[in-house]
Amino acid sequence: MLKGVKFTLFTVASAAAVFSFAFFATQSWAAGDAAKGEKIFKANCVVCHGEKGNGQGPAAAGMTPSPRNFTSATEMKGIDEARLHKSITEGRPGTPMVSFAKTLKAGDIDDVIAYIEKFGGYKK
Ligand code: HEC
Repeated sequence: MLKGVKFTLFTVASAAAVFSFAFFATQSWAAGDAAKGEKIFKANCVVCHGEKGNGQGPAAAGMTPSPRNFTSATEMKGIDEARLHKSITEGRPGTPMVSFAKTLKAGDIDDVIAYIEKFGGYKK
């Protein structure tokens, strides 16, 4: 019974999310789940971007350009969600930032974006 209610609430919330996405498409991507994003980040991104998202992962030393520091408002300036999405999906050609199009599903990318936004440098 409770399960059914929760499911209904979820459905209503999803529909609302889809609607608000349609109306405010410029505002944000469909909201990802930051908790899931944290796991995806730890498995795929920490080696370069670091546990704290500061661009100082174990593989980052001497890397050119440096992995983006997600805690820095200066480094994240001008990077909106569309660009985050594009860079993670397609990579940044000519840099160690590879494409995750084959490694991650679209939903995973939304989730990892929601997590990256929590490091503090990103401003809506
Ligand atoms: C092999 C190292 C490496 C890994 C692994 C890696 N990155 Fe990166 N990432 C980089 C580097 C280097 C840059 C800087 C590229 C630049 O300056 O254009 C970067 C830049 C970025 C940017 C900023 C792109 C922009 O538009 O300026 C985002 C967002 C990002 N990475 C997300 C991720 C996510 C999410 C993952 C894991 C799914 C990940 N990265 C894994 C090295 C890495």
